[in-house]
Amino acid sequence: MSMASEQAPQRQRPRMALTRNLRRPTEYVRLMNEDYSAWAFNEERAPKLRGSWREGAFGVGGDHPLDLEIGTGNGTHFAHLAAASPQRAVLGIEIKFKPLIQSIRRALDGGKQNARILRYDACRLDDLFAPGELNNVYIHHPDPWPKERQWKHRLIQDDFLVMLHGLMRPGTFVNFKTDSRDYFDWSIERFERSPFRVSRKTWDLHNSEWKGENFITAFETIFLRQGLPIHYARLERD
Ligand SMILES: C[S@@+](CC[C@H](N)C(=O)[O-])C[C@H]1O[C@@H](n2cnc3c(N)ncnc32)[C@H](O)[C@@H]1O
Repeated sequence: MSMASEQAPQRQRPRMALTRNLRRPTEYVRLMNEDYSAWAFNEERAPKLRGSWREGAFGVGGDHPLDLEIGTGNGTHFAHLAAASPQRAVLGIEIKFKPLIQSIRRALDGGKQNARILRYDACRLDDLFAPGELNNVYIHHPDPWPKERQWKHRLIQDDFLVMLHGLMRPGTFVNFKTDSRDYFDWSIERFERSPFRVSRKTWDLHNSEWKGENFITAFETIFLRQGLPIHYARLERD
């Protein structure tokens, strides 16, 4: 049995630290709550839009596609997604203030108005979205939490996948990439027993049939320079 196939304890739902309680808020906090407040939602505003993101944050109707990127980092893929799909609403979730601002700034600088971002812990997505509210979901290079005692912090868990499946519309997909072989093996095992259907999986994305449609993210660039293969899966929400 591989290390990754052993069971880890299910995590407890972490409490969200409130931005307003920060002792020393940075400039990024001010930008989130002031200059970018039309596009960026802190952890107190975001759950109030549960079930009404399309109308309440994007001003679009209920049939408009709403895609989510989890852990946008510096936002290169997030901005690319917004620019490449102007007919879709693109929402990012980031826990850290600096990448949150980098992401929304990069998307808006691209001249598109179809991007919004929110600050929250992604393992609590059901605080933010109602059943069936989401279209496609992107999870690129999530923190791998390599040590056994840290596995409970990994985003990909059985209960997370059941929750995510319930929040997505039929006919949509999840794109998942990681450089971590151990985390990928762990994830594939959980994907295959989840309600999703695994339609794509490769342990070497850059030597696969899906290379041509891949967008190389900021973290991926670092891993590629180190000669590491990128692992990729697509999950269908039938
Ligand atoms: C390793 S970086 C990858 C960034 C980007 N996706 C890329 O490929 O370049 C992971 C990002 O996820 C964010 N993150 C980590 N845990 C998170 C969580 N529980 N909720 C929301 N964002 C999280 C981190 O702040 C960081 O920006």
